[in-house]
Amino acid sequence: MSHKIQTLSGYIHEYQKSVLQPEEFWGRVAESFHWKKPWSKVLDWDFEGPDIKWFVNGKLNITENILDRHLFIMGDRPAIIWEPNEPGEEHITLTYKELYEKVCQFSNAMKAQGVGKGDRVIIYMPMVPEAAIAMLACARIGAVHSVVFAGFSASSLADRINDCDAKMVLTSDGNFRGTKKIGVKSVVDEALESCSSVEKVIVLKRTGQDVAMVSNRDLWWSDVIKGQSTECPAEEMDAEDMLFILYTSGSTGKPKGVVHTCGGYMIYTYYSFVNVFQYQTGDIYWCTADVGWITGHSYIVYGPLLAGATTLMFEGVPTYPHAGRFWEIVDKHKVNQFYTAPTAIRALEAYGLEPIEPYSLETLKVIGSVGEPINEEAWHWYHDHIGKGNCPLVDTWWQTETGGIMISALAGITPNKPAHASLPLPGIQPIIVDADGNELTGNNVQGNLCIKFPWPSIIRTTYGDHDRCKQTYFSTYKGLYFTGDGAKRDHDGYLRILGRVDDVINVSGHRMGTAEVENAINEHPKVIESAVVGFPHDVKGQGIYAFAICDMEGRTVENLSNEIIQTVSKIIGPIAKPDKVQIVPGLPKTRSGKIMRRILRKIAAGEMDQLGDTSTLLNPEVVEAIIEGSKK
Ligand code: WT7
Repeated sequence: MSHKIQTLSGYIHEYQKSVLQPEEFWGRVAESFHWKKPWSKVLDWDFEGPDIKWFVNGKLNITENILDRHLFIMGDRPAIIWEPNEPGEEHITLTYKELYEKVCQFSNAMKAQGVGKGDRVIIYMPMVPEAAIAMLACARIGAVHSVVFAGFSASSLADRINDCDAKMVLTSDGNFRGTKKIGVKSVVDEALESCSSVEKVIVLKRTGQDVAMVSNRDLWWSDVIKGQSTECPAEEMDAEDMLFILYTSGSTGKPKGVVHTCGGYMIYTYYSFVNVFQYQTGDIYWCTADVGWITGHSYIVYGPLLAGATTLMFEGVPTYPHAGRFWEIVDKHKVNQFYTAPTAIRALEAYGLEPIEPYSLETLKVIGSVGEPINEEAWHWYHDHIGKGNCPLVDTWWQTETGGIMISALAGITPNKPAHASLPLPGIQPIIVDADGNELTGNNVQGNLCIKFPWPSIIRTTYGDHDRCKQTYFSTYKGLYFTGDGAKRDHDGYLRILGRVDDVINVSGHRMGTAEVENAINEHPKVIESAVVGFPHDVKGQGIYAFAICDMEGRTVENLSNEIIQTVSKIIGPIAKPDKVQIVPGLPKTRSGKIMRRILRKIAAGEMDQLGDTSTLLNPEVVEAIIEGSKK
């Protein structure tokens, strides 16, 4: 089954077909998969609802397409190569057959612990093969997984458990990250103090550190799989049954649970994976993301495994035990496709070329970037020093909500242009609109990025709150999916993503809502009001700048700033820590009392000459005071 585009004219042809006859186009891709029952209609949609159904009435199980289908011809081929944090520890290779057996065995174990179709299961685990096994086992029995990045705090974890009423949590004792050994189970214990839905916790032993096991609730992974069969029938799922929920931040309130469903997600992650990376049988593919993010779901686990690929998982960090670790792994495992984030590139760039020198990197054929706009400087460094000038660099634009890569070059097939995501994949119909939602056609235009037609892995709903999905993505512009990003179509017709146009900050490729960080800051008893904005950061892309009005009694500026940073770390997790906290006498507000973030963003960026007219503010005098304070 190959739907791999081989030439530029092939791309143009496929793209046209996908727009003119989308149902026929996706129906053909889907036909090469194993369905328990065929669909009656490829697509039913309405962006008003939104109500989007792909492969209507089709029945399938995604794991049959990942595991069973690959067993006979390629059961002995490596599915997952796992590289541990410590270079001295043996790596692990799981063949498709071994993965099949482990997934089935764990599926049976979960069933024996009372989990079934439709139940929600939280996965809060480090980057170990069992994290992928856990995801696939949920999919096998029809349970809905929600992976929570293991860097989130107990309170963030509890929010997610409660939002989806999870019945089970899968976790580990601890997590090795560089020189550190981090408690993981202890975070689950703290979270569960405020959750009542969880009946069982299954704990994988990874670090061997002490954990408290609660009787009748907590079980060891190695115990629950004992005696379980390595065969497990795959649950029959409707194409539109939920496959997983993944929480992501938005511009308002608490993170929302983005829902992806079985059929469309399967087709699109497979199709985009083989085409963007031009994966060939036998290649070793490595994506450095964490399974806690959508990139890990779609392009470590589902997309590659659906394609029968070998996917590498790395437990550690790029700089341990040295800044050449990524390149050492590329050579060690003969990696052919390497997919990482601009923030990692910039962080490694800071170490100079020396850490790269011992490694040949000669197996690399394709390199990729994801998570935020890649600046030209980082693009060239990555292209020249890692790709050695002869690997196509795919700059892949997409979102948790899109499920798969939307705009990107196809490696070596469509043109590469520094800092440009470039062209839409077949089936993707992006348009640029002005503030009123009018489509801006032609080249050399800039505005907000929308998509005007559904693709198979589009978000279906936000868990438990369909109206939120409608309001966030389908209401800004009638009849369009709104991405929240700004974009430009350049003079050659290539798309360049300009970053978020809403109150979302992209910190090291991770999405943070300003409101979410403000809510956390406001939990500090000394904080009266706060406003958070993003500012340009050399390594992270954007940093978090917090302005806070505080009661200073009994505190110095320094200790209060530190306390605020710790509060955010405790409530959300270390990834949301503000880079700068400035205590201010007031916040610039409109006459109606709305905080003028535009002004704060300029101050945070040091662009004091571009504040614009401040005379209509309720409190113009406060701007001078904030500028003065920001210089300290
Ligand atoms: C936001 C989505 C997609 C997986 C990782 C992030 C930004 C993502 C690019 C890119 C410019 C990008 C956008 C998008 N973004 N990739 N190649 N060029 N910006 O997923 O957490 O859902 O964030 O990341 O702003 O809206 P996410």
